Amino acid sequence: MKIRNIKIEIEEYENTDSLPKQDREMLTSATQAIDGSYAPYSEFHVGAAALLDNGELILGSNQENAAYPSGLCAERVTLFYAKSQFPDAVVKTLAVTAKADHYEIDHPITPCGACRQVIAEVQNRQEEKIRVIMKGETGKVQVVNGIEHLLPLMFREEKLKRSRSKK
Ligand code: THU
Repeated sequence: MKIRNIKIEIEEYENTDSLPKQDREMLTSATQAIDGSYAPYSEFHVGAAALLDNGELILGSNQENAAYPSGLCAERVTLFYAKSQFPDAVVKTLAVTAKADHYEIDHPITPCGACRQVIAEVQNRQEEKIRVIMKGETGKVQVVNGIEHLLPLMFREEKLKRSRSKK
């Protein structure tokens, strides 16, 4: 047995003022996207913005449902819309932020596990890493350059459809 350590890297910024301009603009768009959130059950409104290499800026938000599991997170709404409208476009950056009805979110909102897996699939379909920018309502901002920093040991099976005879 051996212990293997995996290194992940997270950029941390004290606040939005210290962010590169484009990241700041992405967070402004993600904040605007919160307006489209439908979250009467959790009262937790999430906005996301995806910048594509064709210049398109896609906004999305969480969409809940009375049958709870039928709802979808902002990140997946945004990426599924982006890739269905522009299947060949490269997703350069994804920004995520949130606002709760009854308290202040003072820490970065990081994508849930299912959303990380979806971000991974999108990144794996393209050659470029996705820059993920994460912020709450106030407080520090975290940024990763590539989903591997949020999802080490991701499920990525390129041989799913191979037969036993062909290795
Ligand atoms: N949610 C997101 O949209 N993105 C996240 O990264 C975390 C959670 C949504 C799902 C649900 O509508 C609400 O936030 C509370 O979990």
